[in-house]
Amino acid sequence: MRILLTGGAGYIGSHTAVALAATGHEVVCFDNLSNSRAEVMDQLETITGQSIPLIVGDIRDRTSLEQAMQSHAIEAVIHFAGLKAVGEAVARPLIYYDNNVRGTLSLIEAMIACSVRTLVFSSSATVYGEPQYLPLDEIHPTSATNPYGRTKLMIEEMLTDIAAADPDWRIAVLRYFNPVGAHESGLIGEDPNGIPNNLMPFISRVASGRLERLSVFGDDYDTPDGTGVRDYIHVTDLAAGHLAALGAISSHNEPISTWNLGTGQGYSVLEMVRAFERVNGVCVPYQIADRRPGDVASCYASPDKAKAELGWEAALGLEDMCSSMWRFERMLATSNSPQATAT
Ligand code: NAD
Ligand code: WQD
Repeated sequence: MRILLTGGAGYIGSHTAVALAATGHEVVCFDNLSNSRAEVMDQLETITGQSIPLIVGDIRDRTSLEQAMQSHAIEAVIHFAGLKAVGEAVARPLIYYDNNVRGTLSLIEAMIACSVRTLVFSSSATVYGEPQYLPLDEIHPTSATNPYGRTKLMIEEMLTDIAAADPDWRIAVLRYFNPVGAHESGLIGEDPNGIPNNLMPFISRVASGRLERLSVFGDDYDTPDGTGVRDYIHVTDLAAGHLAALGAISSHNEPISTWNLGTGQGYSVLEMVRAFERVNGVCVPYQIADRRPGDVASCYASPDKAKAELGWEAALGLEDMCSSMWRFERMLATSNSPQATAT
């Protein structure tokens, strides 16, 4: 298929581009580079041996999206483009509604104008809000605890209405749990601007000495060691999940389907710290700090629906997550001009 990846230069988009190119799909990335660098395309060429086109554009610019889809005869869209920092969303909600919600509306309009009705959307486990039971399955009630989560929920609802109005749509809503890790080459990965919000990029930077120590946000949760438990999923597994979803919706009769992409296995903050130290032979100094507002004790997926309906399940474990992140961190440290994804 000829597939447009909005946000294709970003962390998850770039890894999915690799997976799609490796299976013979034609990939076109569409990205405004607000949280990524054009140089990632060179790394994608090194990894895949193929030159993947990048169109620098904004999804809120419908004309530019339509031109991109028409000139490349696009048949399906995987929609990664969006802002994703929870703290920033709380402080500046309007840019999240504008970028994520209006951007998706503009994308849908452009797709309709170009008669493209196959869409995979990057949603998030954040739409489950405070877990009422675990593991989280797809029928768990949804709610939003912050404006970022609300944009994901609004988009999911918008897509549900669109699919109800026109059953020719084939839409996959993928709810990611905690994506971590990097491509095995160490050439692409996640390198957040400023101080990382997420645990694993923070651990990686402490291990390399770029940051002094990790603050573990709370050790008094109702979990085996008192620290927060999450479902970390390797970004390469996540990328494979997109291929599986695209294949499933192309042959399914349902206009819209939702799948969790997680492993079903929860690990605590301290388990992640120890795994990173053990796998990479490094030291990650940490201190116990106050709980972070808005955090829940535990959050992990039921991956059963994805396994049953997509034939997909995560294959990579903690070892691959930690070793690939460290390879990418070393690449950043040794490279004069890091060609990494800034996220
Ligand atoms: P990322 O920031 O690395 O990638 C997003 C890409 O979209 C970036 O390259 C950015 O430049 C681009 N972009 C943003 N706004 C745009 C716009 N208006 N027009 C064109 N391009 C735009 O983030 P990621 O981690 O790869 O996340 C991809 C998607 O997955 C996002 O929608 C995010 O909300 C979702 N998601 C991410 C996580 C996570 O923890 N990484 C978890 C759940 C869901
Ligand atoms: C994981 C655990 C923290 C940093 C966030 C978003 C969610 C989704 C994924 C997009 C928690 C602890 C963290 C640190 C710590 N993104 N932690 N010290 O909060 O599960 O999810 O990213 O959709 O919407 O909310 O991930 O990596 O921030 O935290 O102790 O410096 O690590 O308290 O228990 P989270 P995270």
